Amino acid sequence: MPMRKKLLSLIVLSIMLIPISVFAAQGNKENGKTIYDKKCWWCHGENGAGDGPAGKFLNPPPRDLTAGWYKFKTTPFDEITPADEDIFRMISGGMNHISLWKGMSGTSMPNWDDVLNDQERWDLVAYIKTFSGFEQPAKGPIDYKGRIKSSKESVEKGRETFKKMCAECHGEEGMGDGTKKLKDDLGFRTWPRNLTKPWTFRVDNDPKEIYTRISNGIPGTQMPSFADPSSKKTLSDEERWNVAHYVASIGNDVKRPKDDTVLKAVRLMGELPEKVDDPKWNEAEATSFWFIPQIIAKERFFTPSLDSITAKAFYNDKEISILLEWDDRTKSIPGDEKAKEIAEGDVLEDSVGIQLPVIIPEEMEKPYFGMGDSAKPVNIWQWKSGKKDSPEIVKLLNSNGFQKIEQRDAAKAGLKASGAYNNGTWRVVMKRPLATEEKGKDIQFAEGKYTPVAFAAWDGSNGESGSKHVMTTWAWLLLKPATPKSTYFIPIIVALLVFGGEILLVRKK
Ligand code: HEC
Ligand code: HEC
Repeated sequence: MPMRKKLLSLIVLSIMLIPISVFAAQGNKENGKTIYDKKCWWCHGENGAGDGPAGKFLNPPPRDLTAGWYKFKTTPFDEITPADEDIFRMISGGMNHISLWKGMSGTSMPNWDDVLNDQERWDLVAYIKTFSGFEQPAKGPIDYKGRIKSSKESVEKGRETFKKMCAECHGEEGMGDGTKKLKDDLGFRTWPRNLTKPWTFRVDNDPKEIYTRISNGIPGTQMPSFADPSSKKTLSDEERWNVAHYVASIGNDVKRPKDDTVLKAVRLMGELPEKVDDPKWNEAEATSFWFIPQIIAKERFFTPSLDSITAKAFYNDKEISILLEWDDRTKSIPGDEKAKEIAEGDVLEDSVGIQLPVIIPEEMEKPYFGMGDSAKPVNIWQWKSGKKDSPEIVKLLNSNGFQKIEQRDAAKAGLKASGAYNNGTWRVVMKRPLATEEKGKDIQFAEGKYTPVAFAAWDGSNGESGSKHVMTTWAWLLLKPATPKSTYFIPIIVALLVFGGEILLVRKK
């Protein structure tokens, strides 16, 4: 290598090796305040107390930056002050490091790396530290020297530890359906993360990040440090790596909604499954959809607890059977003591619905986004979980919009449903003949036709009933012919981004 080139690469290398904190120190508080007063105050409040005007609509609420606890930090459990890099990282990536839709399933703290440059973000770090009077932390970040590689053995050991130390809060299978009612240090209700949905993690589900959270805890919340020798919950360094590998292994990508919005019903020769635990379901294709809060009808709803739903479908020459699966932290059975303990307020029934047009449109068009309209009525199949002393039920409704709803006889149309709850997940099967007698009132399914379909769900422990619920946008259901005719094209869905869209708009202003 010629001398000059060598010198140059040495200079480049040494610049790269300068610790980021050198730049961090350059954060300009005054400049930070100017940016904060434009971009952050409407959530975090003028003085950082988490009381901005948008705050009351957000769940979890915007952080009170005066309280002095930062949740996602690399400094050890006995060092309250985060490293500047930690704050910088959270401002840059936000807590929905996964863009609009995904942000809805996590929190509303946006990422700023596409809006503000590095210097502006360091300026913000310098400014928001003044809210809590933080200077530099006395202790540096934890190290990762004891890191062990992931292996089957390590994951298996981690599973054991998880059951003993984590399941009380995160649930037996990590779905966040623990048995404890948790509050953060400010008294807000908090929910442990559903660890099977890594895209809802505030930081990342990389084992190193999980290890950091387990070791340092999540300050301000009940997620404890497992490295604190004075706690009853101490785990050795090795145990913490094992459990981190286990948590990283339980992420289930099938539940993450993709761009594919076609639910494909697979043709079966024999009987269709009627129960949720029928092994035949393993052969069906799963498609997942985001839920958004219902914000069209009168009683608007901004604090949902359910984030997505996964569907599978089969049909034969007589019937169609649809399996719906969604994670719900609480099994809401009115009258049940255990359900009452963990609910917010009164316990109402959990419920799920499928919406279909009465007449399948010829063109690929969809009915009005709400519950149909006068020209395009919809069928709604609604399953309800039942109460302590009354069983689950299925209802059939015809709707021409929110005001015009007709209750129909589900049994007469041949509509059946059956559900079961297990470790944080509801599974419900709904089944109906492809054709019914009341042709003008019920959808008549047809093979090979793109049929609009939408789903809705109610979490009864979150006060959801009537128009207070979550729903998906219209997607397509396709009864896939046994021998494909030609290639299918994936229709483009105009997603309703009211919520996320507004946030984006204001951010860009
Ligand atoms: C749309 C509302 C919203 C806006 C705008 C917003 N935040 Fe946040 N922010 C939140 C919420 C909500 C949380 C808490 C999330 C949680 O606890 O999971 C949060 C958390 C934080 C945290 C805590 C990180 C940690 O590790 O605990 C920091 C720092 C922060 N925000 C800085 C900012 C800055 C700086 C801006 C402006 C550039 C900003 N936020 C704009 C909603 C917002
Ligand atoms: C006493 C209840 C409790 C226990 C025990 C507990 N957690 Fe948590 N955990 C929580 C809460 C609450 C949160 C959510 C905190 C927040 O962001 O508001 C959480 C969040 C997490 C996260 C999310 C990190 C991110 O980036 O979003 C991980 C990972 C995690 N816990 C792993 C574990 C593991 C592994 C164990 C056992 C070694 C464990 N937790 C034990 C309550 C608990």
